[in-house]
Amino acid sequence: MNPIKTERLTLKRAALEHKLRLIRLIGDFRVASMLSNVPHPYTDKDADYWLGKIEKEELNLNIFLYDVLIGGVGLSVRGDDYCELGYWLGFDYWGLGYATEACRGLLEFAQISTSFNCVNANVYKENFRSSQVLQKLGFVQIGEGEVFSLSRQQNMGCLHYEYVFAG
Ligand SMILES: CC(C)(COP(=O)(O)OP(=O)(O)OC[C@H]1O[C@@H](n2cnc3c(N)ncnc32)[C@H](O)[C@@H]1OP(=O)(O)O)[C@@H](O)C(=O)NCCC(=O)NCCS
Repeated sequence: MNPIKTERLTLKRAALEHKLRLIRLIGDFRVASMLSNVPHPYTDKDADYWLGKIEKEELNLNIFLYDVLIGGVGLSVRGDDYCELGYWLGFDYWGLGYATEACRGLLEFAQISTSFNCVNANVYKENFRSSQVLQKLGFVQIGEGEVFSLSRQQNMGCLHYEYVFAG
C-alpha cells in the first residue's frame, strides 16, 4: 500500500529502522497511560512484537512529519463491517492538530478502499483531548463502559464512540 499523504503528514508502516524512536515516544507514560494495549515500561521485545504484528495489518500505520516518526494511527478489524480506531502522538507533538489530521486521512482512505460501514473508538473518561479529536472528526458518543489498561494494570472508565461512513 502506498503512503497516505495529508496536508502536513505522511501515514505509512513503521519498519525496524524506526524501532528506537517508537520505544522512546510510546514509552512515555503520558502517552502509554491513555492507551489500553500498550505496556509500560515499553521494551525492545514489545516493539518487536508490534512491528511484526503490523506487517500483516494494512491499516495499522505510523505518523511521520518530514520523515520522522511522531505517532501512530490505525484501524483494527473488529467485525465484518466495522473496525476500531486507535491513535497516539509523541508528547512534544500534542496540541497542533496532528491527531485530527492523521485520523481524518486514514478514515478518508478507509471509506473509499474498504467495505467497513462504521468505526468504533474507546476513550478513557479523563482523556478530554482525545474526546475532542473524535468529536471534531464527527464521531458520536454511543455509550460507556470499562476497559483494562495494560500500562496502569487496572480497569478504566471509558466512553464508546462511533463514526458511520456517509453514503
Ligand atoms: C489524544 C492525542 C492523540 C491528541 O493529539 P493532538 O494532536 O493534541 O490532538 P489535536 O491537536 O488534533 O486536538 C486536540 C484538541 O483537544 C483540545 N484540548 C487540549 N487540551 C484539552 C483539555 N485539557 N481538555 C479538553 N480539550 C483539550 C485542543 O484544544 C484540541 O482541540 P481544538 O483543535 O478544537 O482546539 C494526544 O494527546 C495523545 O497522543 N495522547 C496520548 C495517547 C492517546 O490519548 N490516544 C488516544 C486514545 S483514545
